[in-house]
Amino acid sequence: MEPHSGERKRETWGSRVGFVMAAAGSAIGLGNIWRFPYLVGKNGGAAFVIIYLAIVILIGLPVMIAEVGLGRFTRRNPVGAFTKAAPNSGWRIVGVLGVITGCGILSYYSVVAGWAIGYTLKAATGAFATLTDPGQTGKLFGQFVGDAWTVLALHAVFMALTVTVVIGGVRRGIERWTLILMPALFLMLLLLVFRSLTLEGAEKGIAFYLQPDFSKVTATTFLAALGQAFFSLSIGMGVMITYGSYLPAREDVVISTAYVCLFDTLAALLAGLAIFPALFAVAEVEPTQGAGLAFVVLPAIFHRIPFGGLFGTVFFVLLTVAALTSAISLLEVCVAYLTDEKGWTRKGACWLVGVVSFLLGIPAALSNGASTFLSNLPVLQMGFLDLMDTIFGNLALTLGALFLCLFVGWRWGPKEALAGAIEGSAYPGLGQPWLFLIRYLCPVAIGTILLQILMNLFGQG
Ligand code: PFF
Repeated sequence: MEPHSGERKRETWGSRVGFVMAAAGSAIGLGNIWRFPYLVGKNGGAAFVIIYLAIVILIGLPVMIAEVGLGRFTRRNPVGAFTKAAPNSGWRIVGVLGVITGCGILSYYSVVAGWAIGYTLKAATGAFATLTDPGQTGKLFGQFVGDAWTVLALHAVFMALTVTVVIGGVRRGIERWTLILMPALFLMLLLLVFRSLTLEGAEKGIAFYLQPDFSKVTATTFLAALGQAFFSLSIGMGVMITYGSYLPAREDVVISTAYVCLFDTLAALLAGLAIFPALFAVAEVEPTQGAGLAFVVLPAIFHRIPFGGLFGTVFFVLLTVAALTSAISLLEVCVAYLTDEKGWTRKGACWLVGVVSFLLGIPAALSNGASTFLSNLPVLQMGFLDLMDTIFGNLALTLGALFLCLFVGWRWGPKEALAGAIEGSAYPGLGQPWLFLIRYLCPVAIGTILLQILMNLFGQG
């Protein structure tokens, strides 16, 4: 099964910028745009931002360094990486879990990204022009996601787009496209921030977003920040192992991953500055998160701001681009596994995973009104899409991150771990503190969120 894995000539990134853009593209996604800003607003503004930053530096960054380091050292996909670093052990299961999680997240992420494509067209053709009330835009959204053929077609279009990019390979597909898409994403974000901040009354939104309120900080604030950091940084399922495996052996893992964390956090902060000032300047509506924020609340305000139609269109293009660069990484994890371990061609692997994820996404696509059963599953009392997000986006990622820390910190061996992750860095002195964090702080923190997730699930059940 394993013979030629990794022995074949492996593609590498063309440059450090190429890696950083691709990894930042994976990290910056729907999580940054529709979840982070809301969490900040609800959990104490700047107080939450400070906690989030500390968590990214003390937990997110070390875990990302560990993942990228394992990939760079073994030059394999997640399954191959664990197999090579610990031959004949059960650890390869953690890699298998990562590959399955990639396919699982991709399936429903593509459904939501399909909505973003649909809403780009709606915004561009003035579909929100007469709608000024979230009640009206909510009805429109309900009709839209309840129309089975439309959502399935858009899901297929988005998946095909993702497959097309990944078929091109590491350098000529992923790297080339992310080098175009990521600067475009930041440009669009800055444009929206500028529009939002120059509206009359914008300061009310800034106050909601950033005014520090330490009284809102409780133990659950830390858990919310931790959970958000993992999903947002794309750690816990092997994206970073896979992207790290295409790094040249001499690359500075610490510096490159620090850039990825920086860009991801910057994008999340900017998203809040684009959304809340506009929302508060125009409407007296309660801010919310997730699909409700992007597809219901925001469309109700676009046409109340000058050039709102244009900015609305830009917003949905931004959402689509952010989702695309994340979906690319999810697909690449599964493709790397099939090409490394099973000898598939890249093209065949891309189509296989694309089709399987598309099929797996069908029930998620139908779970927002098109099918009454899937929209509210018995006993669980949630829709199929939410169920997939809970299992893969929440539980599996956290579990994966915990196992990764335990593996790198305790099983791999300190010498190998340091060689894998820190060697070649301009800051070799960071090796020991990093090892300490990976061995102690990270597993304890991640184990705590895992317990919390399980207790929530159990409580619901
Ligand atoms: N980081 C992406 C976001 O914030 O939307 C989601 C994601 C992509 C999670 C890739 C995990 C992953 F492996």
